[in-house]
Amino acid sequence: MRSPIPDFLDATLERHRYDLSGATADYIPDLAAADPTKLAICISTLDGVEYDSGDADFEFSIQSMSKPFIYGIALEALGLPAVLDKVGVEPTGEAFNELSLDKTSGKPLNPMINAGALTVHSLLGGEGATLAERTEIVRAGLSRFAGRQLRVDEHIAAGELQEAYRNIAIANMLRSYGVITDDPDEVVRGYINQCSVLVSVKDLAIMAATLAGGGTNPLTGERVLSPRVNRQVLGVMMTCGMYDAAGDWMTEVGVPAKSGVSGGLFGVLPGQLGMATFSPRLDKHGTSVRGAKIFRSLSADLGLHIM
Ligand code: DON
Repeated sequence: MRSPIPDFLDATLERHRYDLSGATADYIPDLAAADPTKLAICISTLDGVEYDSGDADFEFSIQSMSKPFIYGIALEALGLPAVLDKVGVEPTGEAFNELSLDKTSGKPLNPMINAGALTVHSLLGGEGATLAERTEIVRAGLSRFAGRQLRVDEHIAAGELQEAYRNIAIANMLRSYGVITDDPDEVVRGYINQCSVLVSVKDLAIMAATLAGGGTNPLTGERVLSPRVNRQVLGVMMTCGMYDAAGDWMTEVGVPAKSGVSGGLFGVLPGQLGMATFSPRLDKHGTSVRGAKIFRSLSADLGLHIM
């Protein structure tokens, strides 16, 4: 018998398909030019069974949705104390690209904002690691979460780099405070490569299901994160993943989630499922408008709120 889930997902997408609010990201050329009609959803169970609807094979850049996974990879490689020494775990209540550092500690407040993510990226491979080495750690690491080999889209990265004034400013601020010790331009390049890895909602649902399953990939059976690191990643996603909309998101939707300016959005229901949506038009927080609405409807219809 055909599962009723795909029909339910089709109907959910149709309810939101003609919502044209929001706008594509304007500061990354390939995102500004994205086809705003694309719409997709995928849900993965903890044994890797996927249910999808819409443009589920369409690939887009992972952008900020890379941040929790790369945080996990850095925690595994360096250990919790070394990473916590550089980047905190407190929400900022500010936009993702704010020039923000904790007033007393001089550290970025959390690894989900750009200041924290640039710092985490700079830790990969140890001090003095090359751009190519860090990019490969990122590519290979994200691939382990997805259960297939992912790649960097060089065109998206080159476009973002040309307009990367804000991230270059943040990286220089971090360098001047001694938070990062490598060349700030190289760190920005590597971080932009990280943001330019291509994924589909099917990939993101598996990546999310890996976090939902305590760090084990449901397709490959590989343990990607230890339970302790996995818990750390989910804790930070829950409190900081949606930036200055984190409180509204957790009270209304109640699913730890991470957005990206490409229009992707993924959520993790620990012990239950991973889910992801794609729709390029964004709200003022840099979150997909239709993606967030779909998450809200599914949370209400399926009782997904973790509380
Ligand atoms: O660094 C940036 O500005 C982009 N590469 C990623 C930002 C992002 O995805 C914010 N999330 N919603």
